Amino acid sequence: MAYPTSIRIVDVSPRDGLQNVKQEVSTETKVALIHQLETAGVKDIEVASFVSPKWVPQMADASDVLNALDLKSSTNFTVLTPNAQGFERALACGVKEVAVFSAASESFTKKNTNCSIDESLKRIEDIIRPALDNNIRVRGYVSCVLGCPYDGDIPAEKVAYVTKTLIDMGCYEVSLGDTIGIGTPLKAKQMLEEVLKQTPAHQIGLHFHDTRGQALANLYACLEYGIASIDSSVAGLGGCPYAKGASGNVSTEDVVYMLHGMGIETGINLELLAKAGQYITHQIGVSNNSRIGNVLN
Ligand code: HMG
Ligand code: MG
Repeated sequence: MAYPTSIRIVDVSPRDGLQNVKQEVSTETKVALIHQLETAGVKDIEVASFVSPKWVPQMADASDVLNALDLKSSTNFTVLTPNAQGFERALACGVKEVAVFSAASESFTKKNTNCSIDESLKRIEDIIRPALDNNIRVRGYVSCVLGCPYDGDIPAEKVAYVTKTLIDMGCYEVSLGDTIGIGTPLKAKQMLEEVLKQTPAHQIGLHFHDTRGQALANLYACLEYGIASIDSSVAGLGGCPYAKGASGNVSTEDVVYMLHGMGIETGINLELLAKAGQYITHQIGVSNNSRIGNVLN
């Protein structure tokens, strides 16, 4: 069993964390959150999505958020893009990385992006080609890797197939989403073992929601396979509006606390991170779902 010495944390709170928040969140508040994450030492932040504003109104100001950031800074700002139209909007803002998303479940893909898995892969092709031509890195997501709110159990072979397809298309890494936080540790390991038959660990990230309180346990179970990239969200905010019953991502504070306790570096200052979590939950008036965040604050 060999744990990695350091792990890359991708904080997705400005995107996944806020996309389903019903109250108005100003662009200034989103940008302030992003700056606080940077101050805490977070090097990879998913800051917005260029999806249809009719589908996800909270992300309608994606261009304003991007325009307020210093894209030449050393922080890796990434944005979600569902189709060529979204990619064009992101390109116009000067992004250096985009994230594309598909799923291992047909019904979820239909609900989330109004197309089949195969059609979503075709749309992704229309993003990856111009992205790579413009020296823009592409990260991939596969949702519903441990279960789907509509289709139930999802075969690990399907997760492995969509993951490998995204890598072959040009994604440098694919993040495996337990979209509705339904997995448990042994299931997570079995799914990951299947994926690793076709895709090496250094190209895999983990994106676990914590709906049933299993996310940290699932991450811990998967760490021994050499995974070196974890998505999380300050204060445990998050959830996909088109995944019935989905709730927050695993909290970045709790992940960082666990990793530091295991001697794994993240480059993140936990006290400053907890302040960022406290800031955004106060701003939007929701409870802080980070256990460590609540202890530190
Ligand atoms: P559609 O309605 O089938 O699209 O939606 P369409 O091509 O027919 O276009 C309809 C209208 O939307 C048109 O406008 C387009 O111009 C516009 P109209 O002519 O009616 O005025 N439109 C856009 N506008 C701005 N930006 C765009 C764009 N595309 C079309 N990019 C579509 C298809 C994919 C657009 C829609 O289904 C969509 O936006 N879905 C995104 C849903 C979403 O954001 N879900 C949450 C993110 S995924 C997630 O959270 C999971 C993840 O965290 C991992 C995990 O947890 O598992 C990543
Ligand atoms: Mg998510």
